[in-house]
Amino acid sequence: MALQDKDRIFTNVYGFQPWNLAAARTRGDWDNTKALMERGQDAIIEEIKASGLRGRGGAGFPTGMKWSFMPKESKDGRPSFLVINADESEPGSCKDREIIRHDPHKLIEGALIAGYAMRARAAYIYIRGEYIREAETLFAAVQEAYDAGLIGKNASGSGYDFDVFVHRGAGAYICGEETAMIESLEGKKGQPRLKPPFPAGAGLYGCPTTVNNVESIAVAPTILRRGASWFSSFGRENNKGTKLFQISGHVNRPCVVEEEMSIPFSELIEKHCGGIRGGKDNLLAVIPGGSSVPLVPAAEIWDAPMDFDGLRALGSGLGTAAVIVMDKSTDIVRAISRLSYFYKHESCGQCTPCREGTGWMWRVMERLRTGDADVEEIDMLFNVTKQVEGHTICALGDAAAWPIQGLIKHFRPEIERRIAENARPALSEAAE
Ligand code: NAI
Ligand code: SF4
Repeated sequence: MALQDKDRIFTNVYGFQPWNLAAARTRGDWDNTKALMERGQDAIIEEIKASGLRGRGGAGFPTGMKWSFMPKESKDGRPSFLVINADESEPGSCKDREIIRHDPHKLIEGALIAGYAMRARAAYIYIRGEYIREAETLFAAVQEAYDAGLIGKNASGSGYDFDVFVHRGAGAYICGEETAMIESLEGKKGQPRLKPPFPAGAGLYGCPTTVNNVESIAVAPTILRRGASWFSSFGRENNKGTKLFQISGHVNRPCVVEEEMSIPFSELIEKHCGGIRGGKDNLLAVIPGGSSVPLVPAAEIWDAPMDFDGLRALGSGLGTAAVIVMDKSTDIVRAISRLSYFYKHESCGQCTPCREGTGWMWRVMERLRTGDADVEEIDMLFNVTKQVEGHTICALGDAAAWPIQGLIKHFRPEIERRIAENARPALSEAAE
């Protein structure tokens, strides 16, 4: 069943109302935040656990469990930190941008509540460098919250001191990886760290840190106000709640929309996007979760539930729920080759399989695109993706490998056709 308006958390996602504090209050934000905090730190974490909320940045790690990894007592007087990942750079993803543009106070209030629950001293919101206007909005909203006494000393009258800092990135995709983000915040080159230790053990400035996505934090106040059972009444087991889907590509009306987790792909597209351009039969394939997950062909995606488990069962993933729709006009080999170039360009170069492999994979992809290759190279490329996958410090290596694997798995005949056409002598040559 599709979500009713009354069940939407992000009621201003299209910006029909102002983003500012006065308007945010009319939408229910900052409504007696102190009372939420008075429930106690452990109770807040338990409520988020009970809600079934899984991280909305792509990996889907249970949010309440992540919060519970943070120490209850400070060791050696070291502070704890919350880092909010607003470095939204996954191709196709644009939901955090809409939250920051139109509902920044949901994020700031969420930062206070989450930070308080985790005993954090401050939150750092790391926003991607290209989000210039959004950063301006966020700076202004944070200032409003300070001026109103909602954050800072004695935040919201709770007796708890909590600062929020906004930090602008400089355009590197890899800084969205949580440990690269921490390095970048520390003023160093944004390169991922080996995990473990996870940030809760050693994060920002070596202190206990939790890194959460914008959407994960922004939904927390509403979950607490309306209750874990309300949130978990949407979706299905292990895939609970509402979710911002971002649909781009060959649909009649691309959009960002909050829907119930597990909504069938067909319903999402027909109800909110006016259908596939040229009709259902014109659909070729879909990348359902941002460019880091493998594509799914039309026949398999149409009735699929849009959630973590449903898409994993199809060999793909929900990721950030950035749904990239491709109709039959798409040159699918070129599209995936272009993604290969993106990952090659964004590799931080720290580990060999990624630094060398991404360039290698892109070059072979380009030859497959034009057909200037041998058929055996298809399997060789697949094998190389398997050498990269799981053998790198961070998930960028996997992200570079998976789209190619999806292409070969589902569109091998198309690649073979190009190679065969390229090998066939031109008519004039054949006649000689
Ligand atoms: P991950 O699975 O390594 O970690 C997810 C989160 O869970 C992290 O915060 C990690 O610290 C925590 N975690 C995992 N195992 C843990 C353990 N045993 N103990 C304590 N904490 C643990 O995934 P990662 O690399 O953080 O994210 C990959 C995902 O990011 C991809 O699936 C992709 O969809 C998404 N992504 C999103 C982008 C965006 O713009 N939003 C950009 C690029 C990728
Ligand atoms: Fe850097 Fe790539 Fe290694 Fe990640 S996988 S640390 S981006 S070289």
